[in-house]
Amino acid sequence: MINKEEIVKDFPILDRKVNGKKLVYFDNAATTQKPLSVINAISDYYKIYNANPHRGAHTLSVEATEAYEQTRNKVAKFINARSEQEIIFTKNTTEALNLVAYSYVNNNLTSDDEITICITEHHSNLIPWQQIAIRKGAKINYMYVDSDGILSVDEIKNKITDKTKVVCIAHVTNTFGIVNPVEEIVSIAHEKGAIVVIDGAQSTPHMKIDVQKLDADFFAFSGHKMLAPMGVGVLYGKKELLKNMTPFLYGGDMIEYVSEQTTTFAELPFKFEAGTQNVEAVVGLSSAIDYIEKIGYEYIEEQERELTEYALEKLNQIDDVIIYGSKNIENKVGVISFNVKDVHPHDTATILDRYGIAIRSGHHCAQPFMKHLDLNSTCRISFYFYNTKEEIDIFIDAIKKVRGHMGYGTK
Ligand code: ALA
Repeated sequence: MINKEEIVKDFPILDRKVNGKKLVYFDNAATTQKPLSVINAISDYYKIYNANPHRGAHTLSVEATEAYEQTRNKVAKFINARSEQEIIFTKNTTEALNLVAYSYVNNNLTSDDEITICITEHHSNLIPWQQIAIRKGAKINYMYVDSDGILSVDEIKNKITDKTKVVCIAHVTNTFGIVNPVEEIVSIAHEKGAIVVIDGAQSTPHMKIDVQKLDADFFAFSGHKMLAPMGVGVLYGKKELLKNMTPFLYGGDMIEYVSEQTTTFAELPFKFEAGTQNVEAVVGLSSAIDYIEKIGYEYIEEQERELTEYALEKLNQIDDVIIYGSKNIENKVGVISFNVKDVHPHDTATILDRYGIAIRSGHHCAQPFMKHLDLNSTCRISFYFYNTKEEIDIFIDAIKKVRGHMGYGTK
């Protein structure tokens, strides 16, 4: 039986005060907080074995290499990749998606081809494809969702055509937390001969990922949204695709042999990891995976479902709150977008901050989606397993006061 109080104690930051109030951290879709075990793993790396991996014969470099490569192995098992050669460390999800855009799509797209993406995409999973399409004179085909943010199978079938070469889709949307039907998308895309790139930034922290079951051609995620430090992300790619791709960045550690006029490149995955890597973040990612596996996805999903259900019920009781997106928690992670009537989301976020509550407000890096829904911006709360119902009560009390702060009455 996992004890929530013990879990909360693992996260030192959750004990701090903001504006004289206990911190309530509801901005986990932007980045999660880090447990002491991750903080200590990074600190130990610097105290005990900091060195540049793959480059030295000395003990410290060998230890740093072992930590780095053991993490690659751990990540491969964590997402059920066939081999650690399919795991490339990047800076974040954005860099991983750009790698696919430059090293695969750029070389395989013609002006007759189409890229299909969803209107809900985060800018990271939209601009790289848009820019490659512009460069190649190819077309971007958008799949549109209904007002709840739900993508229908009919829409998927209509927008993945014989011309589609690449389909790019978020596993879970960052705005409303909707779980997209990625397995259906992959199956429809593969029937048409297209490859599928899945942005797993908002799913990997919350649900067990099995890239073989998903049959994803590429799958990207970030460490910092799942307890690890900022500065490390992962690109999974099917080996047969990665093998034929050209490097994205050139430089040290990604070569086999360099002469004055030519270079041959290292084997997978090293040909995609030019320059000194973020070893401290990789070490932190290893510890973060250990933490997640220790508590288990069953607990994570159960906690988030309970918190989301509770928050939706409480928010629904406030007439002046407008909730956006599907409320079906079977198809959603712990993300709720909303607005307080007549109040700009930035004002709501600033007022909540006075009560020690951290939320995100704005367009959530999804401007085309906001425009599709005729919205400018929203407030967004996003939970992780360490949040509590007591924190939701504090948030609900504060939300009820927002309109009062702005000089309106509250219902
Ligand atoms: N992608 C992050 C978010 O949705 C930053 O907040």
